[in-house]
Amino acid sequence: MNIVTTVDELRQQLKDWRQSGDHTALVPTMGNLHQGHMGLIELAREHAERIIVSIFVNPTQFDDDSDFERYPRTLDRDKARLKRAGVDMLFIPEVDTMYPFGTDNATSVSVPILGEEFCGSSRPGHFNGVTSVVNRLFSLVQPDVAIFGQKDYQQQIIIRRMTEDLSLPIRIVTGETVRDDDGLALSSRNQYLTEDERTIAPKLYAALQVIGNELQAGKRDYEGLESAATKELNGAGFEVDYVEIRRAENLNPPNRDCDELVVLAAAQLGVARLIDNIVVSV
Ligand code: PAF
Repeated sequence: MNIVTTVDELRQQLKDWRQSGDHTALVPTMGNLHQGHMGLIELAREHAERIIVSIFVNPTQFDDDSDFERYPRTLDRDKARLKRAGVDMLFIPEVDTMYPFGTDNATSVSVPILGEEFCGSSRPGHFNGVTSVVNRLFSLVQPDVAIFGQKDYQQQIIIRRMTEDLSLPIRIVTGETVRDDDGLALSSRNQYLTEDERTIAPKLYAALQVIGNELQAGKRDYEGLESAATKELNGAGFEVDYVEIRRAENLNPPNRDCDELVVLAAAQLGVARLIDNIVVSV
């Protein structure tokens, strides 16, 4: 595995691959890799001959400095894991490589409305940071394909919109959420949970499944379903940020005839902010 930190090294390697006709798939990450990330890497293998993983804990997408400082960094372990998985290149830029004029003076890209609701409303500026850094990664790497996880459903919808809006010649592929046996979606933030909180955490997915079953049984009282789940989760010890039923395709509010829905939820449990979603065909 080629470990690269500078733009020059990155470009040289990419040029060589392009000359040999190899396609590239980029898997952007913030490190602290778990099975969810490894699933995205396996998926990348189906789409390109060369896999590039980036690890960059992007300061501009954290709305809280202590959250940025605390974010788990496990670079040595990540490197070993990526090497074993047969990744071709690991790109680990420094902050000033990604933001040569500093984070405050950086050119930014934002996707209005979609980036301001749900997680964007409780974490102002978060998606602006995500789209800005992903756009930078896209222009540095110029991959044929980029892979994102379904767990961050709103994020992947926003990135799809950005890519389409800017006519970037990159195919966005979404990889399934990987879960623990009890249903909890894998996330770097799960390690913030105490032992007690860890036993409560799977209730988030369970609440989504209850809504999914009701929708499949023909129920269309979206608000009623959202508020029942919110009540249930708050009662279980979460502090619910939102539970929302939306159109899976674009996160617009659904009408009664929509046949592909997504149920999205975010809730605080102790210091961990958990998010999850399920797509429901009705
Ligand atoms: O999903 C993440 O890990 C991050 O938001 C991403 C896409 C790597 C951008 O920093």
